[in-house]
Formats: sequence, structure tokens, C-alpha cells
Amino acid sequence: MSDVTIARATAHPNIALAKYWGKRPFGHNLPAVPSLSVTLAGMRTRTEVRFDAALAADTLMLNGAPAPAGALARASGLLDRVRAEAGTALRAAVASDNDFPTSAGLASSASAFAALAMAARAALALPCDASVVSDLARRTSVSAARSAYGGFAALRAGVEGDERLAAEPVAPADHWDLRVIVAVTTEAAKDVSSTKGMQHTADTSPYYPAWVEDAPRLFAAIRAAVLACDLEALGVAAEASALRMHASAIAAAPAVVYWSPATMAAMATARALRARGVGAWSTIDAGPHVKVLTTAGDEDEVVQALQATPGVLRTLSTRPGPGAARVEGP
Ligand code: PMV
Repeated sequence: MSDVTIARATAHPNIALAKYWGKRPFGHNLPAVPSLSVTLAGMRTRTEVRFDAALAADTLMLNGAPAPAGALARASGLLDRVRAEAGTALRAAVASDNDFPTSAGLASSASAFAALAMAARAALALPCDASVVSDLARRTSVSAARSAYGGFAALRAGVEGDERLAAEPVAPADHWDLRVIVAVTTEAAKDVSSTKGMQHTADTSPYYPAWVEDAPRLFAAIRAAVLACDLEALGVAAEASALRMHASAIAAAPAVVYWSPATMAAMATARALRARGVGAWSTIDAGPHVKVLTTAGDEDEVVQALQATPGVLRTLSTRPGPGAARVEGP
């Protein structure tokens, strides 16, 4: 192998319609529940990985600045797996840029680890099909497994004995012109990471077992609604998935509450839109932002209503987008 090998890749964040929250207790970063998401066009991560014999340690630049130690440690963990598979000890310089505000607490780990997994494998000339990229990304961030695929992707729950576990495509991006409007409610990063929040929920919430038991039923309804392009069926089940996930977290001791007054106001806006016949259902990840599912025809009305909602700073309009991909050329 030469002293320096470089590859670049892009990936997009995804929004879970059927939420993942909680891990199996068997190691290997296996999810306790099945999840299903849509990968979003309109926001993207671009990552370059350079393996270089001159480097004594891995380095990570995020949006042009040195990354915090925790982010570097997670990236190095992924790089270690790639190095072991390729049989090399070369250290890497990683540079990753988001074209959306990383500090706003919007989902960025999914696109970050999907792009890193693909670029790192490509740089060491390992196979880069979506399934192996998904499995590698999942070991660092479960939600990142789904960003390996474009459009709609699902990840089953882990079972004992699993080590390899990759997401699977459900439908391509052009299957359904679903619109997802992100209502940004703060510019601050969240204070409880999803990793910590879900572990604490599993350890202390009396509602966590109920969440794990109920999630597969909602997942099946969400999968069927996506395949049928049925917004109402999807909206009802996706809203329930988000609310039940948050209910389990709110019932932890002490409570894990990701919502702010603006979160509640944006959810109320979606309900008010529905009451007057506009298709709008909300979903919320491990932060205060609200993502509203709607159609191309209703998008303008949803955007206007969210922008007029107290505490909503701005909106981002997104739709189904592509999976992780190599960027060729210099
Ligand atoms: O994989 P993580 O640590 O980014 O956790 C993701 C958790 C949620 O965003 C709340 C749900 C999901 O399935 O993406």
C-alpha cells in the first residue's frame, strides 16, 4: 500500500419515522427496537479521509476546526475497525464539513458516520456497497446505519448472537415526494446526548419495557404506510412513535426532557393545520426541534404556519434524498 491514500464521500442526515431508542444488552451496539427513516436531501455532510504514513495519530477537523476529543475518539473507533479489516496501521487525517449548522443540535451524527464509513473504506480499497458501509456506521451510531441508503431505509432490532447488522432499503427516494419541514427552535446543542438519554431511559424508566414491546407494531404500520404512500397512516403512526419514545424518556428518573415551549407550540401548529384539512404530522428526535411531515401541495402552508409559531427561529424544507456516495476526483 502506498504511503498516502485519500477518498471522499457524502452522506445525508435521516429522520426516523419509526424511532430507535435503546440498545440490546449484548454489546455490538445493537438496537432494541426496529426503526425506519427517510434520508433527506437539502442537508449534507462531505468527508475526506487521508491515510498517511507520516501521521502519528488520527486527527479530525469538523467544519474547519479541530473536533472535540469525544468526536475524535468515536471517529478513531470506526477507523480502527477499517484498519483491522484492511490489515494496516496507518493513521488518518479526517476533514468533515456540513452544509447545515452543526451547532444547532440537528441530527448530524447519522450523516457524519455514514460519510466517514464510506470514505474510510474507499481510501483503503475495501468494498463500499451500502450494506457493509451501513454495518460499519451502525457500530458507532445506530441511526447512521440508515443514512447509507437513500430514500426510505429500515433497521431491524438486534438479537442475541448478532454481530453484523445493516439497514435495508425500503423504497428509493423517488418512491414518494414526501416533504419534511424542520422547525429549528434553538441554535444551541442539546445537553443530553441520545446515547446517554436512551441508556438512562433503559436503566430507570418504568415505561421503557412498554416502549420496547410496542415499537415493533408501530414499525410495521409505518413500513406499510411508506410502501402505500399514505400520509395520514404514516403521520398518525410516526407521531405515536415519537411521542411514545419521548414518554419513556420523560418517565426516567430523573426525567430526560428534550422539549422546550417551542417544541410544544410547533406540535400544536401541526394539530391546528390538520384541524383545517392540511396534512401535517410532527416527529421529534433527541432535541427540541420539530420535523413536520407533509405533501408538496401543503408545504407552503405548513412552512408559513411554522414560521409564525412562537419560538420557531426558522424552517428548513427537505425531501427524500440520496444515500452515502463516493466523491470521485481530486
Ligand atoms: O444513533 P443515535 O445515537 O444518533 O440515536 C438516534 C436516536 C433518535 O434520533 C432519537 C431516533 C432515531 O432513530 O434516529
